[in-house]
Amino acid sequence: MKALTLTLTQPAKPKFLQIARAIISAIKQGKVNAKEPLPSARQLAAELKTNRHTIMAAYQELIAQGWVQSIERQGYRVVESIPVESSRHARKSLKCEKNTFIWQINPTAFELDNSKPAHEYSYNFAGGNPDISAFPFHELKPYMSESLTRPRLNHLSYGNNRGDDQFISQLATYLRRARSITNKEIITVNGSQEALYLLSQVLLKPGSKVAVESLGYRPAWNAFTTAGAELVAIKQHSKGIDIEHLTQLVKQQSISLIYLTPLHQYPTTVTLPIHERGKIYQLAAKYQIAIVEDDYDHEFHYSSQPLAPLAANDPQGLVIYLSTFSKIMFPGCRIGYMAVDKSLAPALINYRSVMNHKPNVLMQDAIGRWMKEGSFERHLRRTTKQYQQRRNNLISQLEQYQEQGLDISFTIPAGGMAIWLDVKKNAKELERFALAHDIYLVSESGFHLDKENDENRYIRLGFAGMKPEKMNQGLAILFSYFNQ
Ligand SMILES: Cc1ncc(COP(=O)(O)O)c(C=O)c1O
Repeated sequence: MKALTLTLTQPAKPKFLQIARAIISAIKQGKVNAKEPLPSARQLAAELKTNRHTIMAAYQELIAQGWVQSIERQGYRVVESIPVESSRHARKSLKCEKNTFIWQINPTAFELDNSKPAHEYSYNFAGGNPDISAFPFHELKPYMSESLTRPRLNHLSYGNNRGDDQFISQLATYLRRARSITNKEIITVNGSQEALYLLSQVLLKPGSKVAVESLGYRPAWNAFTTAGAELVAIKQHSKGIDIEHLTQLVKQQSISLIYLTPLHQYPTTVTLPIHERGKIYQLAAKYQIAIVEDDYDHEFHYSSQPLAPLAANDPQGLVIYLSTFSKIMFPGCRIGYMAVDKSLAPALINYRSVMNHKPNVLMQDAIGRWMKEGSFERHLRRTTKQYQQRRNNLISQLEQYQEQGLDISFTIPAGGMAIWLDVKKNAKELERFALAHDIYLVSESGFHLDKENDENRYIRLGFAGMKPEKMNQGLAILFSYFNQ
C-alpha cells in the first residue's frame, strides 16, 4: 500500500469533507490508481492527527460518490472504474473533442436573434419600453414583504394553475372598471407571450389560418406559426385595418383566428374607430371566428378614456382579451392575463400544466395586495401623466425639426408609448445609422409580414422609456443623418 500524502484545503468545510476531497484529488492526479488499496482508517487518522471516525466518515462519503469501495477483510480500495477515467476514456474512444456535439434542432418558425438588446444602447427608442428606473419599487416593497411575512401557504403549493385568487379578483375589479369587461374568466400568465403560445397550441393546428395586421407584432406571429398555422395579412390604412379586405379574406378563406391590436395598433399606434370595431365583431360572429384582442398598453391613453375593447361587448364570447403588466411595471415581472369565455378557460388552464404547473403566485399575491390598497392606481395615473409629457416633448421636438425644414410627418397618437414617424425615404438606412451611433430603433421593414409591402419610409420612436433631455440628445444625433 502506497503512503498517501494528503494536503487539506478549504478549512471552512467539515474535516471529513476536506479529507475526502484531498483523496479525490490524489486519485485524479494518479497518486493512487484504480483498484489500489488505500490506507486504513487507523493509519490515516494517525498520519493526519485526527479521529478515526472522521476518516471513516470521509471514506463513507467517497463510497457514496463512487470513488472508493470497501471490501470485507481487505479494507478500502479505489474503485475499478474511476469516474474521471471513464469520462476520459469515453472521449478517447468516441474520438470526440470538447464541444463537438451537434444538436438536431427542429426547424422553427422563428429566427434566432443574436443582436445587442435594446437596453444596452445609450439611446433606446424601442416602442414598448417603459421607464423602469421610474418604477416605485419602494411602494411595492411593503406588499412583497407582507406576502413573505404572512404567506398564504396553501396558495404556494401545487394545484390551481389559474393564478392567485386574490390577484385575479383584483384584476376582475380593475378590468370591470377600466375596460368594462365582465362575464369572462381571468387566467393569469407569465407575460402575454405565454398566453399567445397557449392559445396557439389549444386553438390552432397545422394549416390553420390566422388573419393578422400586415404591419404587426412578430412575437405573436411566431407563436401562431410554431403551431403550424399560416398567417394571412390584413391590409391597413390610416385608420387601422381595412375591414373590406378582412371581409374578403374571411369570405374566401377559412380563417380560424383574427389577432388584433385595436386600441394602439402595433406598430403604427393608430386607434381603430368604434364603429369599425362593431363591424369586425359582426363579421367574426357571422363567420364564427375567434378574435384575440391584444390590449397591451391600454393604461396609457391621453386625450380621453381609452375606447372600450371588443371584449367589453361580446355576447357570443368569441373575444379573447389579453393584457400585460410588462408596460405598467417592467417586462421582467412576467405577469400577464387573459380574459376568456368560461367555455374556453379549462382547456387553456389544462394545457398550461404541460409547460408549467403554476405562475409565480408569490409575486401575484404582492401585486394583488398593492392593487387592493389603491396606490397601484396612483402609480398608473402618475405614469400616464409622465408618458403623456414625454409624448408631448417628442411631438414638440419633431415639430421643431419640421420647422427647420426636415421632411418628416406623423399623426399624434391618442395613446401608447411610441410615434410612427414618416421619414419619407431610406428608413432602413436611418435605422442602420442609428444603431451605429448607439441609438436603438426599428424601421418599418421590421414590422411587415410581407416584406414586399415595405415602403421603407417609417420608423417607430418609443418615447416612454427615456427622460426628455436624453430623448432630445438622441434625436439630435439621429437627425444629423439628414445633414450628412
Ligand atoms: C403587441 C404587444 N403585445 C404584448 C406585449 C407584451 O408582452 P409580454 O406580456 O409577454 O411582455 C408587447 C410588448 O412589447 C406588445 O408590443
